[in-house]
Amino acid sequence: MELLKVRDADALSAQAFEHVKARLLEKPDLVLGLATGSTPIGLYQRLVQAYRNGEISFARARSVNLDEYVGLPPNHDQSYAYFMRYHLFDHIDMPEDAHDIPNGMARDLEAECARYEAQIKRLGGVDLQILGIGTNGHIGFNEPGTPFDSRTHVTTLTEETRQANARFFNTPEDVPKQAITMGLATIMESREIILLASGKSKQEAIRRLFQKEVSTDLPASILTQHPRVTVIVDEEAGALLP
Ligand code: F6R
Repeated sequence: MELLKVRDADALSAQAFEHVKARLLEKPDLVLGLATGSTPIGLYQRLVQAYRNGEISFARARSVNLDEYVGLPPNHDQSYAYFMRYHLFDHIDMPEDAHDIPNGMARDLEAECARYEAQIKRLGGVDLQILGIGTNGHIGFNEPGTPFDSRTHVTTLTEETRQANARFFNTPEDVPKQAITMGLATIMESREIILLASGKSKQEAIRRLFQKEVSTDLPASILTQHPRVTVIVDEEAGALLP
């Protein structure tokens, strides 16, 4: 894992943007793996701006998202489908049928997970996966204890994750209890990964990640076994690193 330390959330977004932009210019038909949450919003803003400036195009790019809540329709303002349209897809030239996200409303959730895995294969795999990290070390919604050989599956969110995400909902009880997430083995098959961490709440997860002890207690620790991972942290998230 390569570590890049930057000053603050803004510098983190700028660094991540340069990384994604370079890959997109090298390979216009890039397959992007996308994340939601607060951390990549600044990256998406920069990608939208660069598209508007004519610096980059997504016309040939494709994307898959890491996860989606079970039970939220795509027009629910807290669904990840909505988040992605709001922050990125509505503002760029990626064709409508070129981005995919798990359908948390599928009647048969197992079949939806299988469809999603097949879709990633059909795209030829993910070229560049963007990840955030949970305070408990989750990546996607792979919570502590998730097996490293997991593929796309339905997962039950931990109380810690539901509390962390409660800020986006009217009441904490409104936070869905389940999600569909790419599995850890699915994520590990990406050809390249960038993990972004910003703020004090991520300090402990980042400290544990760089202890480089691989354990399902810290799902992100599997990334130490991947040949091409860049971790970008701001000063607060990286404060406990040597
Ligand atoms: C989002 C996702 C999650 C988040 C993580 C951090 O698609 O898969 O793993 O990346 O929960 O979220 P934020 O960025 O809100 O701190």
